[in-house]
Amino acid sequence: MTIQEEIRELCRQKNAVILAHYYQRPEIQDVADIIGDSLALAQQAQMTQADIIVMCGVHFMAETAAILCPTRKVLIPDATAGCSLADSCQAADLKRWKEEHPEYKVVSYVNTSAAVKALTDIVVTSSNALKIVRRLPKEDKILFGPDQNLGRYIMEETGREMELWNGCCHVHSRFSAEKLQALRQQYPNAPVLAHPECKKDILDQANVVGSTAALLNFVKGHAEYKQFIICTEPGILYEMRKSCPDVELIAEENRCEYMRQVTLEKLRDCLRDETPVVRVEPELAEKAVLPIKKMLEWS
Ligand code: 13P
Ligand code: SF4
Repeated sequence: MTIQEEIRELCRQKNAVILAHYYQRPEIQDVADIIGDSLALAQQAQMTQADIIVMCGVHFMAETAAILCPTRKVLIPDATAGCSLADSCQAADLKRWKEEHPEYKVVSYVNTSAAVKALTDIVVTSSNALKIVRRLPKEDKILFGPDQNLGRYIMEETGREMELWNGCCHVHSRFSAEKLQALRQQYPNAPVLAHPECKKDILDQANVVGSTAALLNFVKGHAEYKQFIICTEPGILYEMRKSCPDVELIAEENRCEYMRQVTLEKLRDCLRDETPVVRVEPELAEKAVLPIKKMLEWS
């Protein structure tokens, strides 16, 4: 039996579902039941009838699934797969920031710990952040964290009064404006697609700014272009190439090492041994679930 067959057999025996983020290794995407961006993974976790959810992604994604699905067992193939952005915002520091701005609403990116979500009014992902912020009452002033690039982008698009946390994704903030300028000259007919976690000097050069799924859908929906310049984690190129084999995708290879920590061997072992389990204390989960459910209702 191949390792892929072992994994699928374990899923069948244990009524388990494998959810994988688009930034996972290609072989993990191939063996997964569902591939998606952060929003889709949360939505799929909430809807699943499976007894076990295996989250092939980083820790906050598994934690979000555990908060939404307290009756299911949530596994992650590597519990040390973290996120530098989520780590940049500790709950104690957010609490202090809130106390300094008592009249503000807290809007947190999903890339945060359960403890941060518990201090949040509404969670957003890169798919729904603009829509949700536009829906908040006009008079609401907003504390947004932890991604300052996404926050600045939302602030510029919506004109809302916002204070931004000083965090960023070390992967997306690595994209170079100079390299992008050179690529645009080399490929003048290729639209630039960028994730909103990229810095302003990248977003200012982009034709399309959107979540991982939005960028994929743009490539799928625009057969008039033969080339695209992609500014996001290159894991998404696998699905783009599968969906649109005839287009040329030009990308800087800035990989997220946390996302790559998940391997087929770790996935097989985690399903077989049903560990590591991601648990959130019920008292904390009760608070953290509210802003996540609000996001899902507003999406
Ligand atoms: P999305 O899945 O919302 O595009 O976010 C990208 C990301 O960096 C996930 O950690
Ligand atoms: Fe975190 Fe950035 Fe990796 Fe996403 S790509 S998991 S935001 S470090």
